[in-house]
Order: sequence, then structure tokens, then C-alpha cells
Amino acid sequence: MLVVDFGAQYAQLIARRVREANVYSEIVPHTWTPAQMLERNPAAIILSGGPSSVYATGAPFVDPELFAAGVPVLGICYGFQAMAQALGGDVAQTGLREFGGTEVEVCAAGVLLAGTPERQTAWMSHGDAVHRAPDGFEVLATSSGSPVAAFEDRARRLYGVQWHPEVRHSAHGQEVLERFLYDGAGLSPDWTPGNVIADQVAAIRAQVGDARAICGLSGGVDSAVAAALVQRAIGDQLTCVFVDHGLLRAGEAEQVERDFVDATGVHLMVVDARERFLTALAGISDPEQKRKIIGREFIRVFEAAARDLVAQAGEDGADVRFLVQGTLYPDVVESGGGEGAANIKSHHNVGGLPEDLEFELVEPLRTLFKDEVRAVGLELGVPEEIVWRQPFPGPGLGIRIVGEVTADRLDVLRAADAIAREELTRAGLDRDIWQCPVVLLADVRSVGVQGDGRTYGHPVVLRPVSSEDAMTADWTRVPYDVLATISTRITNEVAEVNRVVLDVTSKPPGTIEWE
Ligand code: XMP
Repeated sequence: MLVVDFGAQYAQLIARRVREANVYSEIVPHTWTPAQMLERNPAAIILSGGPSSVYATGAPFVDPELFAAGVPVLGICYGFQAMAQALGGDVAQTGLREFGGTEVEVCAAGVLLAGTPERQTAWMSHGDAVHRAPDGFEVLATSSGSPVAAFEDRARRLYGVQWHPEVRHSAHGQEVLERFLYDGAGLSPDWTPGNVIADQVAAIRAQVGDARAICGLSGGVDSAVAAALVQRAIGDQLTCVFVDHGLLRAGEAEQVERDFVDATGVHLMVVDARERFLTALAGISDPEQKRKIIGREFIRVFEAAARDLVAQAGEDGADVRFLVQGTLYPDVVESGGGEGAANIKSHHNVGGLPEDLEFELVEPLRTLFKDEVRAVGLELGVPEEIVWRQPFPGPGLGIRIVGEVTADRLDVLRAADAIAREELTRAGLDRDIWQCPVVLLADVRSVGVQGDGRTYGHPVVLRPVSSEDAMTADWTRVPYDVLATISTRITNEVAEVNRVVLDVTSKPPGTIEWE
């Protein structure tokens, strides 16, 4: 089924929730015409919420043609209003905003709200409201700010809710989505992330043919699962390249060799590119510039590795034409890949690619969320130590040093990071925490006292976060005694650091990484 993205990050969440209901979903931009959408032969369509008012100039609208095609449609929030407007209902600017948990009163359960209570808390976020449902629709619910908070036209299989059923704060949200999918649209809950494997294996074989591919292995779950998937498709035509860019954490390179290569038997080439990256990053403090440089250097190293492979294989060797990347759905969206979404930061494997790229990309995880990638990894037999690793960004410690990246600063950060990781693991918190970046504020100094002497050192920031998919996150309430141990150990064992601070910002407004 298709989720039509009206420009808010809610579209991601809707797609996830639909997949949690075991129905495969993909996101498409609202700028597509009904004909383009229908060409995909969707079994159902959901219109997402969005930041606009239907009254704003240039606000995206829905072509009524979409509703005449006989495909079941659910409109959510903005999508609900746009549906009402397109079909002749009234949407009014009441000036009465509803935001956050709101009580909704069900007047007729219909198909959509069947089995849910008469009064329920629903997550709202809107200024305009539907005042009159279009002809043929039954009103299912109201709230104080929404005379029509849900409606449906069972004959045409068109449904809508003003609230956000995809948000956990909507008490019966998932049920509402499932009622639409199973009863409203007649879909069967038979999709699992594992289903992706067979399709992707076929697609990769078709794309790569007899050519060869290389895959940048970072040690993280995404590239490992991408590599395992591609290896299943093309076997020895794949070589994995592990680039030691000097921005890795302690023990990282060893772990890749030990855990991944031993388990999968994949061809591995290790490239020591520490000097190259440090030289390229010299004098650079701007985060976007760092990301672009790291992305560019990665590709240059891969290109050189590919040339080496071709040279080694001699004249009979097939060309290395493909580069496998573990790009995930959130990476694509946050790099501005979802039309209408803002470019927050250039993830090194999406927005940071140089224009003169010599490779064609193979990105078998491009439509998956992290938890789905983990499920695919387990099914492919990737070892649990890798599947459950916390995320670590491709640009590595380079984007965890606020300021210029130098070899000395990397050593300091590596030491502090190793302590934090060790203590969090010792406390048994690894699965409760999504990840805990440790950030060195290299351009900040503060006065301290140690052993009766004055110190003038740098702070490090602990950024423990909890998240479902990195799109949103909350700071993790790590027990004080664990924080105290980390702080004491870092300030004792890492001479340049005399202060440890805790980042208590959620995402939004902060991103997970500092840069
Ligand atoms: P932000 O900082 O955008 O991070 O909230 C979201 C998630 O993505 C990871 N991250 C990256 N991963 N390349 C990656 O492979 C990147 O350039 C990159 N930037 C951020 C980050 O660690 C978090 O899990």
C-alpha cells in the first residue's frame, strides 16, 4: 500500500505502523498524479498529515480522481481535510487549534472505529477542522475542536480521521489503522520483513548480472546486513571493503574481522586510510563540510579498492561496477530524499556522495527501518553481536568532535567513548539504549581542579538516547550511579577531559548526533 507524503515526518511513522500490521507500505510524494500512484497498483492508500493548512497558498491538494479509482483510501489529519475538501465537504479555519492528547467522542463506530471505546484519547495537531462531511459520508467521531473528527463512506471505501493514529499517544491508533487495512481495504496481514529477502535477492541479481560489486563494511548492522543480502544474491562477485578512516572507536576494526567475516566467510579487503582522511579534514570545523569530505573520501577509497581488485583479477576479471550501501529509509528521508521534507543533515551515504561517482549503487535496505533490518539480518544468519549493535554513524568520531578533527583529539574521544561503552554494557543497558554518542567539545575549555592543581581541559558530552527508529528520540534516564561511574572514570583516566556533561534534549529539537 502507498502512503502519500504531504511533507511531514509522520509519513515515515505511518509506513512503519502499517508494516507492523504486516502489510507492506511505501511512501510516495504528494506531487505524484493519481495516474502515477495508480500505476503502482496499490491495494490501499493512506494520505498523511502535513505541515500545511488547506488554505495556505500553494497548499498541496488531492485530485478527486484519486477517490474515483475504487482503491480504498484513509486520510489522516491534513490528508483527512484534503479528502473532505476534494469531495465537497467543508473545511473551516476555526482559529481553534487542537494539539496533543485530545478526547474524541465516537458517535458511530462504523468500520474504522469498530471495537474501540466511545471516548478515547487521540493525538491531534491541527488548526483547520472539517465542519461538514462530504455527501455519502457518515460522521464517526467528534471532538471539541473538530465537529467532524472521523468519517467514512463504506460504499466507496473512503475513510478519514483528524487525529494521528500512527502516534503511540493515540490510545487506539494501531487498531484504527488495522481496521482500515483489514476490514476497510480487505488486506491480509501476511507481510514480514523477511519477505524482502527473496525479492531483493532477485532484484540484486537482475541489477548486477555478471559484474562485481564492493560493499563498504562499517561494522554496523546496516552495512553488515546489506552485505549479507548481496552475498546471498551474487556470492563471490561481492568483495567487502573495510575502510579504517581513523574515525573508528576502539576495537572496531578487530570486531568486524572477528564477528562478521568469521560468520559469513565474505571476501574482505581492509584499507588503511587514516592519513588520507585526517589530511582531508585538516582545518575543517563545519559539520556539513566534514560530512561531505568524509563521504567523498569514502568513495575515492572505494574507487581505488575497485581498481586494485580489477588489477588483481587480471584480464578475465569482471568489472567492479557496483557499490553496495546499507542506506536505510530514515537516511533517505532525512537527506531530503522525501519530497517536501527539509534537508536536516547530509548523511554520508546519501547526500554526501560526490557527483562524479564511478559506481552504480545497490541499496537493498533503502526502504527498510532499522528494526526491520535487524529482523532481516537475523533471518540471514548475521551474528547477534552485529545485529544488535547500537548504531554508529558512517562518519564516525569525525562528527563527534565539535571543532577540527585531529589525531590527538580522536585519541581523547576514543578513550572516553570506550569507558562509557564499557560501563553501559556492564550495567546491562545496551538493549535499553538506542545509542550513546560521546561528544568531545574540542573548542571548549573549562577550569577544573585535580590533585590540588588547576586544570584547563575539555568537556565531553554523554548523549544516551532511546528511540524506535532514530526519527524521533528521547534522552535515556541512565541510573545516576552508572553516570557517576562513567564520569569519574573518564575524568580520572582521560587526562585532557576534566568535565562530563549529560545531554537531556529529545529529538526534536536536538538531533541524536551533535553534528
Ligand atoms: P541524527 O543525528 O540525524 O541521527 O538524529 C540519526 C541516526 O543516524 C545516525 N547517523 C548516521 N548514520 N551516516 C550514518 O550511517 C551518517 O552520516 C549519519 N549521521 C547520523 C545517528 O548515529 C543516529 O543513529
